[in-house]
Amino acid sequence: MKKVAMFLLLLLCATSQIASSVKDGLLPNGNFEYGPKASELEGTKVMSAKAIPNWEISGYVEYIKSGHKQGDMLLIVPEGAFAVRLGNEALIKQKIEVVKGDFYSLTFSTARTCAQEERLNVSVSPNNEKNDFGLFPIQTMYSSNGWDSYAWAFQADAHVIEISIHNPGVEEDAACGPLIDSVALKTLYNPKRTRANLLKNGNFEEGPYIFPRPTSEGVIIPPHIEDDHSPLPGWIIESLKAIKYIDSEHFSVPKGKRAIELIAGKESAVAQIVKTAIGRNYVLSFLVGDANNGCEGPMVVEAFAGKNTVKVSYNSKGKGGFKAARLAFRAESTRTRIMFYSTFYAMKSDNSGSLCGPLLDDVKLLSVRKLHHL
Ligand SMILES: *[C@@H]1O[C@H](CO)[C@@H](O)[C@H](O)[C@H]1NC(C)=O
Repeated sequence: MKKVAMFLLLLLCATSQIASSVKDGLLPNGNFEYGPKASELEGTKVMSAKAIPNWEISGYVEYIKSGHKQGDMLLIVPEGAFAVRLGNEALIKQKIEVVKGDFYSLTFSTARTCAQEERLNVSVSPNNEKNDFGLFPIQTMYSSNGWDSYAWAFQADAHVIEISIHNPGVEEDAACGPLIDSVALKTLYNPKRTRANLLKNGNFEEGPYIFPRPTSEGVIIPPHIEDDHSPLPGWIIESLKAIKYIDSEHFSVPKGKRAIELIAGKESAVAQIVKTAIGRNYVLSFLVGDANNGCEGPMVVEAFAGKNTVKVSYNSKGKGGFKAARLAFRAESTRTRIMFYSTFYAMKSDNSGSLCGPLLDDVKLLSVRKLHHL
């Protein structure tokens, strides 16, 4: 009897020390379905650092059940029945086992609750790079239901890392601050250039984790500012505003399972720099369409290859569909910048006011002998 108890105690000690190892998908208790004991809650406020299984918290963290009322607002949680709210200087973190040197993308879904400017600071430790964190302003609502998923990427500098999500804000009302519902991780593979495509990840098949739930509205890939690890391998988001990463489970995607939606006009550009040979001819081909998400109207995608450009118009009925386009050019430099943006802004026809735009997929760059043969 005594021996068994001792063994259990040892086992408990051991497991509480060991970081969880994850496959692509939710972190352990990544949707906060396992919550604090009643004795560790004061109202909704979480009272001890290790009260939420698998997580460690500090600052003003609340444990919220779906259907919780805040003022006139009814908080509905997209995945499961629980979420956490990060109030003033609140931080949640979790230790996990990863493969040192590998690249990972983190996807988390969040909703703002008060009108104030709210931001989230996402980081990992240890991190050999200085100032390598993601700062996410979450004023803009992209989805119709108020819950947006964001992606961030990093390189693991150790076998055990700690992922932190922090609300650096201090508001008068400590109960303000973003809600977090689910946190997931995915290994990113760096796609190679091939003879069939001089661009990396031109079909956008490699990218961040997308939550499989039916209400999923894609993943926001924020503008690429501080780091060189893109959650969309090969591509950089050069502009001020984000782009959206979408999948064929929830949207109409012309080729493969993934595509991107250019949701913020000229402020939302995606680019890749490729090695080219001066004087050689190239053809850039791509698909322009709509994601079948009620984004209607005339749309124009502008493609650039160095100084060369083409405008592709597409009349969206918001019901899915696409057309093929191309840009032939002669390289004038050893490095050519390939870039795409949407000329206009668009909004969904569902009165949500959420931004939307044309879809881009299957981008290919090929070297050709002669331009006029095409
Ligand atoms: C974000 O978090 C990192 C890691 O804790 C920290 O070094 C950085 O100063 C924070 N940035 C802001 C703007 O809060």
